[in-house]
Amino acid sequence: SGSPVVLGVESSCDETGFGIVSDGVLLGQGLASSAAQHAEFGGVVPEIAARAHLEAAVPTLRIALADAGVEARDITHVAATSGPGLATAVHVGLAAAKSVAWALDVPLYGVHHLAGHAAADTLEHGPLPERSIVLIVSGGHTSILAVGDLVRDPIEHLGDTLDDAAGEAFDKVSRLLGLGYPGGPAISRAAVDGDPQAFTFPRALLRPKDAPFTFSFSGLKTAVARTVEKLERAGEPVPVADIAASFEQAVVDVLVTKALRAVRERSLDTLVIVGGVAANARLRAVAQDRCDAAGITLRIPPPRLCTDNGAMIAAVGDLLVRSDVEPSGLRIAADPSAV
Ligand code: KG4
Ligand code: ZN
Repeated sequence: SGSPVVLGVESSCDETGFGIVSDGVLLGQGLASSAAQHAEFGGVVPEIAARAHLEAAVPTLRIALADAGVEARDITHVAATSGPGLATAVHVGLAAAKSVAWALDVPLYGVHHLAGHAAADTLEHGPLPERSIVLIVSGGHTSILAVGDLVRDPIEHLGDTLDDAAGEAFDKVSRLLGLGYPGGPAISRAAVDGDPQAFTFPRALLRPKDAPFTFSFSGLKTAVARTVEKLERAGEPVPVADIAASFEQAVVDVLVTKALRAVRERSLDTLVIVGGVAANARLRAVAQDRCDAAGITLRIPPPRLCTDNGAMIAAVGDLLVRSDVEPSGLRIAADPSAV
């Protein structure tokens, strides 16, 4: 038989993604977002996301097939996010994936969303080295992982966030600055004209006695809120660009410091940064500078592969197929709170 042609399905949050990958190569993808429908609520509304996935599924699959120049009958395997994510949202994509797998009579794999984020980078930069440190920064997660092949090697969690995820911090600060949802892109746009040194916001858990790979962003969010309140109470204008830039700098500082610490402590030479926040220009620039200075190879996928998409799920499916891992089967349940 020839190369596998793997369809990946992603629906864990507000992006409906289908991607098609063969032998580690991205053939094409389709992506729909319900972000605009959540904007007035300042965050993702699970029922609205689920309804949007249901409506977008077939048209977006069609776009992916056309983009890849592939017929549905050419698909040899289907992979879908089984968790973690919003339960109602995961269910819609997983059900869609089951329908396709059943109709085409091909194997189905459930994929861990975070493995998907990490695998996204392989579509751009090829297979990961034997061991690397992966910093995952998204709306739901902020974790430092030690990873191997993403398929058979266990993923080791070195540290997570105690409270808000990095992306969540961007979303909350964006809301309190009146910049809307999703907050990451809005803050970055506002920050372009700002001075990152204008305000000194707290960098949590950076003292030697603190947990080396653990994050906390709720204090930072509160500090930004206090600053805004104080200015408003004094009747002074709120310098949105400066606050956005200073907030962004504080987040980036902590993320890069702890990720590089993990690379050094494990005597590794590669840092991979993935997840929606990895689309952030300041994070990309600061990480590149500090990795260059430390002689560490930095891998970050292009922004469109950082945020949720189907291609990254197809990338994991393709790795599973090529490693001869047993498929999950059509009875697989969603695991929305998977860790
Ligand atoms: O990975 P992702 O698309 O979905 C989750 O798995 O959560 O990440 C979404 C998060 C949101 O919080 C969004 O505000 C953030 O990624 N984000 C960014 C940027 N683009 C998206 N944060 C900072 N800068 C960006 N350019
Ligand atoms: Zn994600």
